[in-house]
Amino acid sequence: MKPMSQRGEANARCSNHGHPYYVAGKAMGVVDTASALEQAVSALNSLDPLPDLTVITGDLVESGEVEEYDYLCTLLAPLRMPVLTIPGNHDAREPMREAFVADGYLPRRRFLNYVIEDHALRIVALDTLVPGEPGGALCQERLLWVDRMLAATPDRPTLLLMHHPPFVTGVGRMDQHGLSGRAAFAEIILRHSQIERILCGHLHRAIESRFAGTIAGTAPSTAHQLVLDFRPEAPLRFALEPPGYQLHYWREGMSLVTHTAAIGDWAGPYRFRKETPIN
Ligand SMILES: [Fe+2]
Repeated sequence: MKPMSQRGEANARCSNHGHPYYVAGKAMGVVDTASALEQAVSALNSLDPLPDLTVITGDLVESGEVEEYDYLCTLLAPLRMPVLTIPGNHDAREPMREAFVADGYLPRRRFLNYVIEDHALRIVALDTLVPGEPGGALCQERLLWVDRMLAATPDRPTLLLMHHPPFVTGVGRMDQHGLSGRAAFAEIILRHSQIERILCGHLHRAIESRFAGTIAGTAPSTAHQLVLDFRPEAPLRFALEPPGYQLHYWREGMSLVTHTAAIGDWAGPYRFRKETPIN
């Protein structure tokens, strides 16, 4: 897959729960999230052409500690493209703000909302964090902010980033810790037809849904994935299914196309026909 225009955004989204640092070495005693993130960085760096940008839709770290963000920055440093981050429920605003201060895109105070105008696709990032809560919220202040930002540039195709998805996933335990303020948010989104995609995190799986006239989706995790289980009483569990990321491809005149890719060393490539070149 190659961008057909230099202005085309081939945005890789290095997915959500990086959880790159954990005191005991492995998250939940099982997952080496730091190694997983290193492999994700390596996978993104090996893409040709290189994506214009990586967005990480939270959670960035496990407990919101300064040391965790320091370690995360070390792990992300080899990425050969700019990185944008938004907070998830495991993040803490002030240490996160401090960790990325040199990159200049996070506001100095209050919510970690921001707009990026530098790319062919405009990016509007929305902070859904409620400190100490697994679920997210869009309060009146944040709803007014996103409405104002979207109204300011109605003709530019836009990516909206937020950690908590604004739709019900069917995974009961995760939906219990969903997003409050969803109905009012949907009313706002319906008024802004330029939104190509709402990119979310939180679920540790690739999930898509139609939402308020656009498409909203969650990215897979770069580490462990949520077990797919629709029983209402199913406990929350994870499995070491292949980690992944999403690559969003856009060029003028076409709608955004999202590819979900697995990270890892897989057998192949093989030829469909023997006369086909292997590379
Ligand atoms: Fe989360």
